[in-house]
Amino acid sequence: MQSFALDGRTAIVTGGLGLVGRGIVTELAECGANVIVADVDSAAWGHARKGFDEAGLTVAFDEMDVSKSATLQDSVAAFDRAHEPVIWVNAAYPRTSDWGDGVETVTSESWSRNVDMQMNSACILASEAARHLAARGGGSIINIASIYGVVSPDFAVYDGLEMTTPPAYAAIKGGIIAYTRYLAGYWGGQGVRVNVVCPGGVFADQPKSFVAAYEARTPLGRMADPEDIAGPVAFLASDAARYMTGATLMVDGGWTAR
Ligand SMILES: NC(=O)c1ccc[n+]([C@@H]2O[C@H](COP(=O)([O-])OP(=O)(O)OC[C@H]3O[C@@H](n4cnc5c(N)ncnc54)[C@H](O)[C@@H]3O)[C@@H](O)[C@H]2O)c1
Repeated sequence: MQSFALDGRTAIVTGGLGLVGRGIVTELAECGANVIVADVDSAAWGHARKGFDEAGLTVAFDEMDVSKSATLQDSVAAFDRAHEPVIWVNAAYPRTSDWGDGVETVTSESWSRNVDMQMNSACILASEAARHLAARGGGSIINIASIYGVVSPDFAVYDGLEMTTPPAYAAIKGGIIAYTRYLAGYWGGQGVRVNVVCPGGVFADQPKSFVAAYEARTPLGRMADPEDIAGPVAFLASDAARYMTGATLMVDGGWTAR
């Protein structure tokens, strides 16, 4: 069991105040890591902080906007100097106000901006983090993608609803998965492991018909909880996953097994 422990290790989690990110922050801290949340939402930190403190978890906050591409290199260097992390998780999810438009209505401006904010930023952050981790002897980077980076959406689950999964999401997540493999190949010799977790849909009070259709399509019969995603992330961060790099870990209740 020792190999699952993260005692004494520092982890940076971008988007650590979101639905998925907060579960990851909690799990890493419960495994013994000192966690720094790198998120744009300082107001949300005000609320979240109390919960982490009350649970006795070592979690701090450092404001970061991953959509400011020109600043990312300097930001990662500053995080590295200040905290010497050995774990870096990319779970931020910036998107434009028209995110959610379907394939027939999305504009090229919106497409480009979301690719820039979501895919380019995650790839640059992973790249920069890998360089710093390698210089200090290694570490573990975990990107968060999605089942939709691997398989086509089942559009039937959106039948009769305004909501859909945006077309750029597939391109963004597929790109993140491919770049995870690139970095794994490049940095493996210097002790940096780079893996990607692909969650299935996380329950967040979506419309009833969507939830019912999603559950019926999922072998384990339910949508995910944030904790379902967090455990596999903590595993990849730990020595228990020391022989894993470049892996695409599906955490989807079996969605992609069908
Ligand atoms: N929720 C799901 O069902 C689901 C399913 C599969 C994959 N995912 C993936 O999980 C990741 C997190 O999604 P989520 O559902 O937790 O989203 P969320 O909206 O709940 O949380 C996103 C977090 O990112 C932060 N953020 C937004 N813009 C930022 C910026 N510019 N800089 C820094 N932080 C910023 C937000 O403040 C928030 O804390 C995403 O990569 C998403 O694609 C989510």
